[in-house]
Amino acid sequence: MDYRIAVIPGDGIGPEIIAEAKKILDVIGRKYGHNFQYTEVLMGGVSIDITGVPLTDEALQTAKSCDAVLLGAVGGDVGKSNWYSLPPNLRPEAGLLALRKGLNLFANIRPAVLFDELKSACPLKEDIIGDGFDFVVVRELTGGLYFGERWTKEVEGLRTAVDTLIYNEKEIERIARCAFEIARKRRKKVCSVDKANVLDSSRLWRQITHEVSKDYPDVEFTDMLVDNCAMQIVKNPRQFDVILTENMFGDILSDEASMITGSIGMLASASLGKTKLGLYEPIHGSAPDIAGQNKANPIATILSAAMMLKYSFDLDKEAAVIEDAVRNVLKKGYRTVDIMSPGKTLVGTDKMGDLIADEIIN
Ligand code: NAD
Ligand code: IPM
Ligand code: MN
Repeated sequence: MDYRIAVIPGDGIGPEIIAEAKKILDVIGRKYGHNFQYTEVLMGGVSIDITGVPLTDEALQTAKSCDAVLLGAVGGDVGKSNWYSLPPNLRPEAGLLALRKGLNLFANIRPAVLFDELKSACPLKEDIIGDGFDFVVVRELTGGLYFGERWTKEVEGLRTAVDTLIYNEKEIERIARCAFEIARKRRKKVCSVDKANVLDSSRLWRQITHEVSKDYPDVEFTDMLVDNCAMQIVKNPRQFDVILTENMFGDILSDEASMITGSIGMLASASLGKTKLGLYEPIHGSAPDIAGQNKANPIATILSAAMMLKYSFDLDKEAAVIEDAVRNVLKKGYRTVDIMSPGKTLVGTDKMGDLIADEIIN
């Protein structure tokens, strides 16, 4: 069967990690008789350099016309790159936000799983890790502070800035239902994370999530304040199954969660809406500090491609083959620098991709 994939390499390490994900998809395609057709789409700094904007209407339409979108990362070194002298809505990240909004991808799924083989790369103590953890952050992606009104101006002689955190009940309800549905297929636990002791938006969040929870009596439902959650993730990550949270809290908590899986280079994500067209991307950024050096860990992007096979194409078996191949390569002791530990074999971005591809072929 044919599958049309919009591929967005983006900036920094983006092109390097996307090359490895395509390598893996090609191997899967050949082995299982699927035809993955790639259409390259410009987004981020590279789009600004060529078109003047981070995402053209044409690029968005191309993405919409495909079956799924695979993204590397966008953005540059904020201190050094001249993209950041542009107005905020013309900077690289604005392209990503426009893509998420344009495709109505309100649910961002970020699984934090510790591979047994990476226990030594996890900064937590052995007794906390136990026999590992496996939770998923379900992050609301098209609302909250990211999409509220914002301005910067002088008020009473002082430079002043405002960002608006806005949610309505529909936005909260649909992401809550998504989290409960996911929990039903897992260990049936949802922990909703908010800041209801301070924020009105969180108090509404709590009210609506409690209402939704009544439709899922088979799922254990709890609330946690976000500051406590940040602490609990490192104190006892094994307590979590599904963490349901709003846009900004989910952004921050998922970077924290990634580190206890060994590295931010390990965490994949799927951004989903009402249709099968999803956006798949590692949770990390363009890592300007290591770009072009063949050092980046491509596993988060490869696992994101596996999520694409599963969620957009219903190719569950092929997705599992990719996950097994990653596990086997780690088992054999190969590591990129971010997950390196004593006694293991250091490899670069391209070699890691080759090793995973070989596992699939053999
Ligand atoms: P970052 O995630 O790019 O990097 C943080 C640190 O993690 C760096 O030291 C980097 O080298 C390391 N790292 C990240 N990915 C890695 C990988 N695959 N393998 C090994 N090490 C890796 O975050 P940042 O430095 O704060 O942001 C850089 C740029 O990326 C900014 O412009 C930011 O806006 C953008 N960004 C984009 C996305 C995206 O496109 N989805 C996500 C996050 C940040
Ligand atoms: C992420 C990134 C983005 C976000 C930025 C680049 C807009 O940090 O995907 O986690 O905050 O959502
Ligand atoms: Mn982030």
